[in-house]
Amino acid sequence: MVILEVNNLKVYFPIKAGIFNRTVNHIKAVDDVSFSIEQGKTYGLVGESGSGKTTTGRAVMGLENITAGTIIFDGKDITKKQSKTKDVRRNIQMIFQDPYSSLNPRKRVKDIIAEPLRNFENLSKQEEKKRVQELLELVGLSPESILKYPHEFSGGQRQRIGIARAIALKPKLIIADEPVSALDVSVQAQVLNFMRDIQKELGLTYIFISHDLGIVKHMCDDIAIMYKGRYVEQGTKEEIFNYPQHIYTKRLVSAIPDTEPGNREKRFKFRQDIQKEFEESYDDYFDSDGLAYSLKPVSDTHLVALPEKG
Ligand SMILES: Nc1ncnc2c1ncn2[C@@H]1O[C@H](COP(=O)(O)OP(=O)(O)OP(=O)(O)O)[C@@H](O)[C@H]1O
Ligand SMILES: [Mg+2]
Repeated sequence: MVILEVNNLKVYFPIKAGIFNRTVNHIKAVDDVSFSIEQGKTYGLVGESGSGKTTTGRAVMGLENITAGTIIFDGKDITKKQSKTKDVRRNIQMIFQDPYSSLNPRKRVKDIIAEPLRNFENLSKQEEKKRVQELLELVGLSPESILKYPHEFSGGQRQRIGIARAIALKPKLIIADEPVSALDVSVQAQVLNFMRDIQKELGLTYIFISHDLGIVKHMCDDIAIMYKGRYVEQGTKEEIFNYPQHIYTKRLVSAIPDTEPGNREKRFKFRQDIQKEFEESYDDYFDSDGLAYSLKPVSDTHLVALPEKG
């Protein structure tokens, strides 16, 4: 079952100038992006800084004004902000990049986690406490955590608190925007594996935003590569990693750090060759403004931004 369908999404930010503060141009942060996600799957959005990943996520959350396109969530058209009913809002939650700034430092853990419950459910104090304790247990934090403040926890633990808050209402969709990039590499894997465990347990669907293809490979079922607001390529994990078609994707995939130490030289040579191909064939893959072309299907699931033939 498709849980989220985004059609031809555009989010343009006006650039204003002059004493009349007129709109002189637009930043096309998201420029004609379409995708759909099956319930229970993880959809990866990859791209360099400024490519439009966060804006896409925020548009789905209802946090951006949409210039064009439609967003269908769980069968309902939620394109307009006013169409985001309470039921929709509770079912789409976000995990933020920075567990240091996303948790209110003056609030105790019990109030941080209980906040969505208080906004959306009418629980007695007793019920609320029970739910918070269940959530803490689910994310692997001790019951004593309840009275502590965020600064008393490590980065990884804080991200677990953020996750507990995001899953408190058993949402259907979670948008995780670089959820581990502020964490030490040593705890990244722990948090990622934990996210996968609760996904299975609660049947969650993820939009997983990252600039790190290695992490995306570990987490995602389907992947889109963004560049300057547009999709360069979209496909299953296998298609993107084993059969990348666009030179931009090829270059990203070739740059993933080695896990096997043995063939270092071969990999280095391979990277150099791809980089050379990237430079030589740039004009075949990007239009005169340096933007990706519209997507063309190469299989039922695999789409690549290539020019019209002929
Ligand atoms: N509120 C805004 N007003 C104007 N421009 C914006 C706004 N939000 C984002 N942008 C611009 O839109 C483009 C896409 O930004 P976005 O934050 O979506 O990128 P991103 O892929 O998430 O990048 P990063 O990896 O750095 O988080 C950028 O050029 C950014 O400067
Ligand atoms: Mg971002």
